[in-house]
Amino acid sequence: MTDLNTLESDVLAQVAGATDLQALDAVRVAAVGKTGSISGLLKTLGAMSPEERKTQGAAINALRDKVANAIAEKKAGLEAAELDARLASETLDLSLPAPYRRKGSVHPTMQTMDEMIAIFAEMGFAVAEGPDIEDDFHNFTALNFPPKHPAREMHDTFFFNTKENGERMLLRTHTSPVQVRTMVSQKPPIRIIAPGRTYRVDNDATHTPVFHQVEGLVIDKGIHMGHLKWTLETFLARFFETDAVTTQFRPHHFPFTEPSAEMDVQCDRSGGEIKIGQGTSWLEILGCGMVHPNVLRACGIDPDEYQGFAFGMGVDRLGMLKYGMPDLRDMWSSDVRWLAHYGFSAFAAPNPASGLS
Ligand code: DAH
Repeated sequence: MTDLNTLESDVLAQVAGATDLQALDAVRVAAVGKTGSISGLLKTLGAMSPEERKTQGAAINALRDKVANAIAEKKAGLEAAELDARLASETLDLSLPAPYRRKGSVHPTMQTMDEMIAIFAEMGFAVAEGPDIEDDFHNFTALNFPPKHPAREMHDTFFFNTKENGERMLLRTHTSPVQVRTMVSQKPPIRIIAPGRTYRVDNDATHTPVFHQVEGLVIDKGIHMGHLKWTLETFLARFFETDAVTTQFRPHHFPFTEPSAEMDVQCDRSGGEIKIGQGTSWLEILGCGMVHPNVLRACGIDPDEYQGFAFGMGVDRLGMLKYGMPDLRDMWSSDVRWLAHYGFSAFAAPNPASGLS
């Protein structure tokens, strides 16, 4: 018994004397750890007579509990003291200036897209969407591209591997498949734009493999090319926030429109920057035309009853023109200096009431 009493007062003194959590843990291990002094006593019980074991066992267990409680109490006290010390020493001066951090900004392509959507929304167009991964039917066949026709090759398509059923998916080469998806699923009158990403095997100063288009489609009774011209000119004047946009329609061929045209915007390319409303250069910005009767038929619309116009424009191109960016590839360079210069505030979403840009 005296041994136990001595051990108890020793261990409790050590617990009381521990000045930090680490020291307290060392005391704990030495007393009640696997090979600790009290745990060692418990192992001696096996060699005792049943009588002795009864009294000694109870005494050793009581000692172990007492020590464990003392350790827990001391631990709580040390932890509280440690927190108090931290709270007293760690202070934060909220009046100090914040460190400089580079601010995020809206990419010019997305800004341009938002501006286009805002203008067309005000003109009564709804936004339609379609998948980036398309099938041959929506990207080509329903748009009146004849099988094996060279126009298919013109699009320099990214194809996926052929599936077991012979089908070959592709990355859409234009947003025109959304026309098809819309006409198949909605009844005329239809007035939509379809903004989105498009893909072609192409890479130079005015072409990137991924680019953005906004498709437009209007289907109703009595629609003619005058409606198309007015819509595009009104859009361009609003978009460039000036009346001095000079455009030209050039006759063109698209399988899905008849007649078809491309529209160019007059610009000045001297001096490394593109300026619109002046100069002697033209930049092609869109394709358009009257929806081909075969396309209407492929989508279940009677061409004798309904007509329509469609257009597809390059978002990145329009952004380059409006914001004077000379090389399309910079859009993808992820250069933070370029983004800081050309980017837009996320808090200034374009809308017709407060302004576009
Ligand atoms: N899909 C054409 C292209 O990417 C652009 C285009 C031309 C879209 C005429 C149209 C259109 O809707 O009518 O080159």
